[in-house]
Amino acid sequence: MTKEIKCDKNYINNKLQSIVNDDLISFHMPGHKKGRLYDKLGYENLVKNLYKMDTTEIIETDNLHAPEGIIKDSQERASKVFKSEKSYYLVNGSTCGIQAAILSTCAPGEKILVNRDCHQSAINAFILGDINPVYIKGSICEDTYTIKGVNEQDVIDAIDNNSDIKVLMLTYPSYYGMTFDLEKICTYAHEKGIVVIVDEAHGAHLGLSDKLPKSALEQGADIVIQSVHKTLPSFTQSSIIHVQGELVDKKNLERFLKIVQSSSPSYVMMSSLEIAIDIYDRYGKELMQELLSNIDDFEKDLSKIDGVRILKGHDATKVFVSLKDIGINGYDLEEILRYKHNIQVELSNYYGVLLICTIGNEKSDFDKFLCAIKSIVEDLNIDENNNLDKSEDNVKKLMKLNYPDLIPQKIISPREAFYGNKRSVALKESVGKISGEYIIPYPPGISLTSPGEVITQEVIDYILTCKEYGMNVSGLKDSSLEIIEIIEK
Ligand SMILES: Cc1ncc(COP(=O)(O)O)c(C=O)c1O
Repeated sequence: MTKEIKCDKNYINNKLQSIVNDDLISFHMPGHKKGRLYDKLGYENLVKNLYKMDTTEIIETDNLHAPEGIIKDSQERASKVFKSEKSYYLVNGSTCGIQAAILSTCAPGEKILVNRDCHQSAINAFILGDINPVYIKGSICEDTYTIKGVNEQDVIDAIDNNSDIKVLMLTYPSYYGMTFDLEKICTYAHEKGIVVIVDEAHGAHLGLSDKLPKSALEQGADIVIQSVHKTLPSFTQSSIIHVQGELVDKKNLERFLKIVQSSSPSYVMMSSLEIAIDIYDRYGKELMQELLSNIDDFEKDLSKIDGVRILKGHDATKVFVSLKDIGINGYDLEEILRYKHNIQVELSNYYGVLLICTIGNEKSDFDKFLCAIKSIVEDLNIDENNNLDKSEDNVKKLMKLNYPDLIPQKIISPREAFYGNKRSVALKESVGKISGEYIIPYPPGISLTSPGEVITQEVIDYILTCKEYGMNVSGLKDSSLEIIEIIEK
């Protein structure tokens, strides 16, 4: 007899079950979109049994840290599908792949060239390994404050100005699907014997269509880390790291993968990676073609609605939608979509919302989003209480902000700053001091000041203005932005 188990309390399971029951439309990760792809493509029985298949290293189940059997074969298939020389499954997300890649290529005290808007996991690796980042400025889209990524020439100049550099790490594509000429950079770096690591957390799906930007492996990167769970149908936290070329010491990378990953790697996650790769291989291209055509129609219809702006990523599966021209900021838009229309987007910033569209999305999802936007715009027009003019004023003021894109002077390394003695001072009195904290306004989510760097007047003025306009500034322990920790000399 099957008995229905009910969770009475508002704990994790209860909430997740209600989201499943509510049929929430997903424009966020993970890429399987609430398991829909497994049902659609006939993997449902396999997935339903995963809880029974949760095991550990026993006879015949192999070992992720020394694979010789089923895991070795599965990884070899992944490597063939993604056209790498060797691929390794990751059960601690791309976070651990990025860390293993950095720690295995840079010795303590060495430098690494890296884009300023790199992921936090990279900075944590600099702290762990006592590595000195030399940052390359990225650019942002002034209209939406979304990250565009680095400029090729800036990277080449940085290589020329740092002759002792042995490793370059770049994020490609950006969260918002923006790309750059990575091939040119790889070719230049390789001429100098520099290893190129690419954080392709947001680009595991790029190989599925010629209409998408070229993948990092295709453009010659040596180590590539992909969050399969973000844009392909695998479970959250399951990722993959690929290697190719002569410059990478695979044994050393494997040594660090053992350090940063669990000694009890999840078979559920490894299994879901294998399913995602099977779907990629068998159905991926066809599903991607369908998706790109749905997105194309969707964007055409959306752009016909007055007041709607779309920022297209080079990767068309990332769609940024803004209603700022009609006075609705992104934070409000995310909430209206969720609570009035049962649609969840990936993220919002002051200017709009980002949709992550994957091969798990169907035409009906886009139709529902379109209906929701039409209804939001109509509601706004008939709502007499809505102070549109005021909102528009605010938006205009925000657009005039001068983004401080100068990278501050670094006095001590991230590791020294992390372990250094700190004391709290009033934010306004911190100018010229060495920061003990991060200052990361959102949007666009790039660190303006990192631990060990000098705090500038320009940055303080900027974040106080951000605060005034309700933008989020993270990194500081004091969220009221009155106090900051500085390094005691
Ligand atoms: C650019 C980038 N790199 C790496 C990561 C970490 O990936 P994961 O969540 O798979 O650990 C993220 C996570 O959002 C990211 O945005």
